[in-house]
Amino acid sequence: MLDYNKISENLKSNEAELFCYDSVDSTSTRARSFIDSGNTSNLIVVSDEQTCGRGRNGKSFYSPPGVSVYMSVVLHPFCDFNSVVGVTTSASVAVNRAIEKVTGKQTQIKWVNDLYYKNRKVCGILCEAVAKKSVVSSVIIGVGINLCESEFPGELSEIAGTLGCDASLREQLVSAVADELLNLKCGEIEKEMLDEYRSKSLVIGKKIDYYFNGIKNTATAAGIDSLGGLIIEKTDGSVDILRSGEITVRLSD
Ligand code: BTN
Repeated sequence: MLDYNKISENLKSNEAELFCYDSVDSTSTRARSFIDSGNTSNLIVVSDEQTCGRGRNGKSFYSPPGVSVYMSVVLHPFCDFNSVVGVTTSASVAVNRAIEKVTGKQTQIKWVNDLYYKNRKVCGILCEAVAKKSVVSSVIIGVGINLCESEFPGELSEIAGTLGCDASLREQLVSAVADELLNLKCGEIEKEMLDEYRSKSLVIGKKIDYYFNGIKNTATAAGIDSLGGLIIEKTDGSVDILRSGEITVRLSD
């Protein structure tokens, strides 16, 4: 179980309402229902366990109790869609900073926004926008961080890992992640954020596999552009920019 008071005492920001649960379907789904029922505050929704945790691309997110952080932060930027795209890139840097501050562990960012520790995925971030016409009224940033040793089911055991920390750090981590995310701004990605994203990148200089029109391709990740896109050098020598999608990094090449 998570201690509401500990999270609340550690929070530096007093600009958000905090909701803390023992179990929910998904903190992001719960956050969305608060928005839909007219809550206009910034929100922090956190749970010890999720029974229907959601990942990117319609995947589920394994969310057992007692070992991880599952949280969603809601901001209300009221900006156009293009100005909010950078939030995804900045969110990785924000969560990366909070993890380092609280646990002392240095994670790396795998484009777009997974965090890796010792070559294993320890954190996934899912950013969802709520838009009316072309104005983004709310952004839900869902963050799942694996702290303690646990068994991962099926093919997850090949990819997922943990930070190897004590569960007693969870409340501090929730507060630190929330404080960092509540500071995010819309508009161009700040230079400091981009530089940090690049310096923490797990992918730059590595061979990657990516899918284009359903076909698997190989390239080298060459850099991150000013909008957070992944600059790739293809095998024929041409350069392209990936703006979305999933890549696989060849860690041993
Ligand atoms: C991914 O790796 O595909 C993104 C995973 C995001 C998981 C977090 S856990 C808290 C929040 N609630 C959810 O249902 N998903 C996000």
